[in-house]
Amino acid sequence: MSSFLCSSLVLFPHPNFNSRLSGSSRRTTSQLLVVKAASSINNNGDDNVDSSVTRLISFLGKGGSGKTTSSVFAAQHYAMAGLSTCLVLQGQDRTAECLLNCKIVSSPVLCSDNLSVVRLETTKMLLEPLNQLKQADSRLNLTQGVLEGVVGEELGVLPGMDSIFSALAVVRLLGLFGKWARNNHHKDKFDIIIYDGISTEETLRMIGANSKARLYLKYLRSMAEKTDLGRLAGPSLLRLFDNAMGISEKSSQLNGTLSTEIWDSLEQILERGSSTFSQPYQCGCFLVMNPNISMSMSSALRYWGCAIQAGTQVSGAFAVATPHLDVESVEKMKKDFSPLSFAFIPNLSMGSPQDWNAIMPKSTAKGARDLLSLPAGQKHSMVPSINFDTAGKSVTLLMPGFEKSEIKLYQYRGGSELLVEAGDQRRVIFLPPEMQGKVGGAKFIERSLVITIR
Ligand SMILES: *[C@@H]1O[C@H](CO)[C@@H](O)[C@H](O)[C@H]1NC(C)=O
Ligand SMILES: *[C@@H]1O[C@H](CO)[C@@H](O)[C@H](O)[C@H]1NC(C)=O
Ligand SMILES: *[C@@H]1O[C@H](CO)[C@@H](O)[C@H](O)[C@H]1NC(C)=O
Ligand SMILES: *[C@@H]1O[C@H](CO)[C@@H](O)[C@H](O)[C@H]1NC(C)=O
Ligand SMILES: *[C@@H]1O[C@H](CO)[C@@H](O)[C@H](O)[C@H]1NC(C)=O
Repeated sequence: MSSFLCSSLVLFPHPNFNSRLSGSSRRTTSQLLVVKAASSINNNGDDNVDSSVTRLISFLGKGGSGKTTSSVFAAQHYAMAGLSTCLVLQGQDRTAECLLNCKIVSSPVLCSDNLSVVRLETTKMLLEPLNQLKQADSRLNLTQGVLEGVVGEELGVLPGMDSIFSALAVVRLLGLFGKWARNNHHKDKFDIIIYDGISTEETLRMIGANSKARLYLKYLRSMAEKTDLGRLAGPSLLRLFDNAMGISEKSSQLNGTLSTEIWDSLEQILERGSSTFSQPYQCGCFLVMNPNISMSMSSALRYWGCAIQAGTQVSGAFAVATPHLDVESVEKMKKDFSPLSFAFIPNLSMGSPQDWNAIMPKSTAKGARDLLSLPAGQKHSMVPSINFDTAGKSVTLLMPGFEKSEIKLYQYRGGSELLVEAGDQRRVIFLPPEMQGKVGGAKFIERSLVITIR
């Protein structure tokens, strides 16, 4: 067995696999994430925002913090600014329906000028990729031979499978939306999609999956093609995967030689999908919190850290406007979330349809609208989440909402990579060549983990 395989398996053990070994309780969502080379995410001060790509906007916060009302507000804002907008909801919450005074169903409907809304009933498709794999496995009966006892129970043992799955599901979804936009918005696509997921964890998982998936694919492909186990198991797993997702049309006759075709089509699909998700300026997350609830504030900080771990961007923070808020509390909030841009978002009464033509021009809406309109990805709205100090041989990771005791560091591949585990997510940081080596120490300063390399 080559060392590549060994290190890959060590690098990305599946949580279920671990917990089975240790006998502890199973985690339901497996979230194995790898972040693209950090520099390409963080220092991409690319101001040439490509207006031809669809942007994805999402609000992160604790349940009850105002995620759905903020999503509806943002959707209205973008639609009234002339963008072809799609609000994508999940779950059975009726808040949006009420605020927009519009019946929302599982296929897109045009709620108002420039604004389509859809409620996804395909939660399972997005959130339970492993189940699909398992179903395919039972159809194909692949649990024999090399994979016996592994695939059936522990499909995730091939790391990253589930990430690739949800990434593909999202790409497929976006394809469906494109058609609707062409027919209903007199544009050939949506300019912006606002995604209001069931929970922040699931939203991060969905958004994070795509940018990770391509990297995983590389690992997987290399593992499948270059290792003994991979050559034996690879074709079976691919066939399984192909069958579950319907990637190629000739899955039934898949032999070793055809694997290449499937790998290629997977890469192409993900390439298309990542044009929406992988670029910072195309994917913007905003934190949202209710200042009356301290838990809501600390959760928002934590989600900021989780978003960074998941490899996505936070473009700003919103607090639901509340009367009688003293100046000190406001200053504290701004400080806690600095250097993120901060604004209040109007507290809409959930129980009744809103008159958007009256709300939007008000001065109370201005701060929020300005923040939403900031071109995501521009330098001033972006906070670098990682800093390499090559002279001082240290790496500074912004990790708001985490404590040092919650963060685990691992090193593989002779000190060229750093694996950071926190918040049920893993993130790989590739160290620049001039500062590779063993971790000498790590300490928490403010909200950042400073790691020194020997
Ligand atoms: C819809 O978008 C167009 C530009 O694409 C804009 O002129 C129009 O005012 C928008 N409609 C509303 C209701 O804001
Ligand atoms: C699956 O494979 C096993 C081992 O070859 C065999 O005994 C079993 O009958 C197969 N099941 C199905 C449903 O084909
Ligand atoms: C695939 O393998 C089967 C036998 O397992 C063989 O009959 C078939 O011709 C092969 N197909 C290709 C395209 O190689
Ligand atoms: C906060 O609480 C006050 C009363 O205690 C209430 O008037 C206000 O609407 C609340 N604000 C939010 C955002 O929940
Ligand atoms: C908004 O205002 C209502 C009262 O109008 C209040 O009950 C609620 O707590 C406020 N906050 C949120 C987040 O809705």
